[in-house]
Amino acid sequence: MSIVVVVGMQWGDEAKGKVVDYLAQDADYVVRYNGGNNAGHTVVIGDEVFKFHTVPVGVLNEGVTAVITDGVVFDPSVFVGELEGLRKRGITADRIKISGNAHVIMPYHRLLDRLEEEYKGNGKIGTTGRGIGPCYADKMSRTGIRVWDLVDLDRFRARLTQCLQQKNKIITSVYGADPLDEATIYEEYAPYAEVVRPYVCDTTTVLVEAARECANIVFEGAHGSLLDIDHGTYPFVTSSHCVSGGACVGTGVGPTAIDRVIGVAKAYTTRVGAGPCPTELKDAVGDRIRERGREYGTTTGRPRRCGWFDAVAVRYAARVNGVCSIALTLLDVLSGFDMVKICVAYSIDGKETTEFTTDVDALWRAVPIYEELPGWKEEITDARVFEDLPAAARRYVDRISKLVGVPICLVGVGPRRDQTIVLDGEVLQM
Ligand code: IMP
Repeated sequence: MSIVVVVGMQWGDEAKGKVVDYLAQDADYVVRYNGGNNAGHTVVIGDEVFKFHTVPVGVLNEGVTAVITDGVVFDPSVFVGELEGLRKRGITADRIKISGNAHVIMPYHRLLDRLEEEYKGNGKIGTTGRGIGPCYADKMSRTGIRVWDLVDLDRFRARLTQCLQQKNKIITSVYGADPLDEATIYEEYAPYAEVVRPYVCDTTTVLVEAARECANIVFEGAHGSLLDIDHGTYPFVTSSHCVSGGACVGTGVGPTAIDRVIGVAKAYTTRVGAGPCPTELKDAVGDRIRERGREYGTTTGRPRRCGWFDAVAVRYAARVNGVCSIALTLLDVLSGFDMVKICVAYSIDGKETTEFTTDVDALWRAVPIYEELPGWKEEITDARVFEDLPAAARRYVDRISKLVGVPICLVGVGPRRDQTIVLDGEVLQM
């Protein structure tokens, strides 16, 4: 019986959904602890592709309770849409629980997200435009609307009146945009409240009791460590705690309950939106990785910036998350290169360092120092045990593990559930 945190070690999109889905086969609970519908998780089962933004991936597994906890920002319109989509495909999504403490993403959050980005001009972050930052800002300013408020319609109306007055002043006076209409928002949100209400509860109590009863729990981190509000490349980050510690903050389950942290890293690097990415390749190699890896955002469809694996960044992520084992995904994407590269150090202002920095000004100036390894020509999507991989691919995996200083428990060789090589079954055992 165990409690495992799955966390992204790069700038998001590390194929965490696949790893969570693997663990969920033996889990009782799969829990989202941060972020909102700015995240996108894709799971491929057989020929079926499932994309999730708000509902935890675990919902696909019978017997699993999917939990949206306190640390999440919750867009009821997206939730209701995902629920309908699942039902149409015959998936009963009854085992979902939503924390009353989660903050509700409102139409003014989405509008302010866009207006703030426009206002920043060249300094924009390249957000997903889903209202995430403004919603978390309201949470911290103690002016947010929580799910408890949403499902009590009298309370919701009163909170909406109060909040919208202030937001409309900002929208009109600061940004010169049109104000939002209270009645329209209420009419849109009141029906959502009816759908959401049966799922709402005190999820902390549910999870703490489940932990006491030795349930198998997977905490599903959204985004990636380098997008963490404190430990990422601020200000080019999202507004939540993406690191493993966020699992405790976001759920109310204490750190001593957690058994393991599995970090998920791609065999190369991607980043969406603005901000430094030292190993980014703006050439044919980057394009090739993007096309082979289908590196287009699950949420926004934006092309992802692609580059070689950055061992400096991933070693930092291993440290801030306390990662005990790595799931290395999308190795198949690198097939066909004569040679592959791993960034082993940065040169910043002529000084060589193997330490990552969250001083973004310095990171912009970081020039990657690469180690070159032989590539492999063979497609590896049919490999099912480590020995099936070409020697060069095995060497690449081993080298990453050595440079990051953490063993590898799983290698992903394709998007399907079965396209997985397990190196350490014990770590992956719930
Ligand atoms: P926000 O989370 O929409 O505020 O966006 C802030 C930054 O985080 C932007 O650069 C986004 O592209 C990035 N971001 C947010 N969520 C994800 C994700 O799930 N994967 C990759 N990038 C993300």
